[in-house]
Amino acid sequence: MALGLKRHFTQKFDDEIRFFKGMMHGPKTVGAIIPTSSYTAKRMASVINPDSGLPVLELGPGTGVITKAILARGVAPEKLVAIEYSTEFYHHLVETFTGVNFIRGDAFDLSRTLGVLSGQTFDSVVSGIPLLNFPMAARVKLLEDVLDRLPPGRPMIQFSYGPSSPIAPNPDRYIVQHFDFVIRNLPPAQLWIYRRG
Ligand SMILES: C[S@@+](CC[C@H](N)C(=O)[O-])C[C@H]1O[C@@H](n2cnc3c(N)ncnc32)[C@H](O)[C@@H]1O
Repeated sequence: MALGLKRHFTQKFDDEIRFFKGMMHGPKTVGAIIPTSSYTAKRMASVINPDSGLPVLELGPGTGVITKAILARGVAPEKLVAIEYSTEFYHHLVETFTGVNFIRGDAFDLSRTLGVLSGQTFDSVVSGIPLLNFPMAARVKLLEDVLDRLPPGRPMIQFSYGPSSPIAPNPDRYIVQHFDFVIRNLPPAQLWIYRRG
């Protein structure tokens, strides 16, 4: 096997082991059995406008598959802010992605977790948080909090395994759009977009 290919599989295997360990420690917060596929990550990152001049906010980066796709989309590392709850994932991310502004904290407590960046407007939000493991009221509060930090019309894209949107529609407050059903993910995943009208 070529050296590059071998390194790729070794890295993928390491990420899967790390993911599995994370799941054993906090099954509710990790909410998946293996990392997001790179194809899904690329689809999610495609909604970012790297020319907006605004930073991007990532929620629940985990092993960093989506982080990598966001950077590959053309977002400079210092223009990416990513909030991760797990200390183990957080340390791995800081070591792996130089220059990205990782914050160890709770995305459901956004103002406190963002700290000095609390008043920041972001281009878009890319979320891998397992929303289905949290009560609907908490999901809606998170979405409202996130959308208040985006220019009108800019998206939060959310990954989910359920058949319907993990956040109930509320046309008076935000628009819900089904973005994609990705079969190149294990298990297949749904992608949802939320934005202010
Ligand atoms: C389904 S995993 C997805 C991770 C990533 N897409 C991957 O493939 O490695 C969910 C991630 O969200 C993180 N997470 C869960 N609850 C969180 C919270 N309240 N705040 C920040 N991160 C959270 C978990 O620690 C985990 O890394």
